[in-house]
Amino acid sequence: MKVGNQDLRPIWFDAGADAVKVIDQRLLPHRLVISELRTVEDTVYAIREMMVRGAPLIGVTGAYGVVLAAREAGAGRKDAFYRLCEKIKAVRPTAVNLSWGVDRVYKATAGLSQTEDRIRTAKTEAGIIAEEEAENCRRIGMHGVTLVREAAAEKTGGPVNILTHCNAGWLACIEYGTATAPIYAAHDAGIDVHVWVDETRPLNQGARLTAWELGAYGIKHTVITDNAGGHLMQHGLVDMVLVGTDRTTGTGDVANKIGTYLKALAAKDNGVPFYVALPSTTFDWNLKDGLGEIPIEERDADEVRFVEGLEDGVHHRVLIPPKESPCANYAFDVTPARLVTRLITERGICGASREAIQKLFPEKFSG
Ligand code: MRU
Repeated sequence: MKVGNQDLRPIWFDAGADAVKVIDQRLLPHRLVISELRTVEDTVYAIREMMVRGAPLIGVTGAYGVVLAAREAGAGRKDAFYRLCEKIKAVRPTAVNLSWGVDRVYKATAGLSQTEDRIRTAKTEAGIIAEEEAENCRRIGMHGVTLVREAAAEKTGGPVNILTHCNAGWLACIEYGTATAPIYAAHDAGIDVHVWVDETRPLNQGARLTAWELGAYGIKHTVITDNAGGHLMQHGLVDMVLVGTDRTTGTGDVANKIGTYLKALAAKDNGVPFYVALPSTTFDWNLKDGLGEIPIEERDADEVRFVEGLEDGVHHRVLIPPKESPCANYAFDVTPARLVTRLITERGICGASREAIQKLFPEKFSG
């Protein structure tokens, strides 16, 4: 996507530097810093500390991590190569894209024992995944815009008000984003849209990243506290909720950033459609019960304890609760399929049920 005059992606392989380059998302929106990943340890650090984040992006980062694992493992050492790949997969548990991306690239190198062959093949495969994810998001936008157009047609005036949670934009993907792709497509088609951006505590991906992306594209938006959505819905100020996901079961249960479930409940109570946009790489086809089967990441409680931001141009990190108070940091929650109005995928829009998902992706289901 365009940042100033620059065409930027959140990740790419820089052949000149012989390294993976990433935007360090911890520093946005106030500083745009590009970092290099040269080792598996760098990759693990970048994913764990959320220099890179968002399901499709950590899938692609894991995929490029296999290139670095191949380099580190050396010739013939299949067991060392395997262990390094497993290490990358284990960094964050909820987004299924991470293990999917690593596995796909690792499998592409099966049968190769020379380091250079493994590196070359892994680099090609990771690049293909990145391009596929960009195209998936473009197609999600193409399909999802119909829902925004319908909402616009039902209104007597004013913008279509879309509430989103966390950041499911291009920074979390490769291009366009998942939840944001229909918004960009609507804006490009001349539909008047306005986005309510949940700040998304504790790390503020909405306030920092989604607001930055939308502002750069010239899309009207307002940052709100995470608790404001219900109030806005009660007053008719939200036409749809549109979010991404980190893992969705083959039956339509949706894991996404903590707080998503509360938005879905409020949407249900107020008759507001609740849409989830995802590429097929975010489905975990064999899971049937999201609540019981999707692992929920718990992160360091200091992310809850401290808030970071700028004051007079200087970065500060400040303590909020009493320093003795225990804090807990659940990073995701699961919204049951019954609360999801529609899923928006690269193949089209479907209901959140096994039958409907199977119609779009028949090859993923046996029997
Ligand atoms: O903890 P994060 O920032 O990696 O969580 C990201 C989200 O919850 C996104 O909504 C999700 O990955 C969808 S990204 C297209």
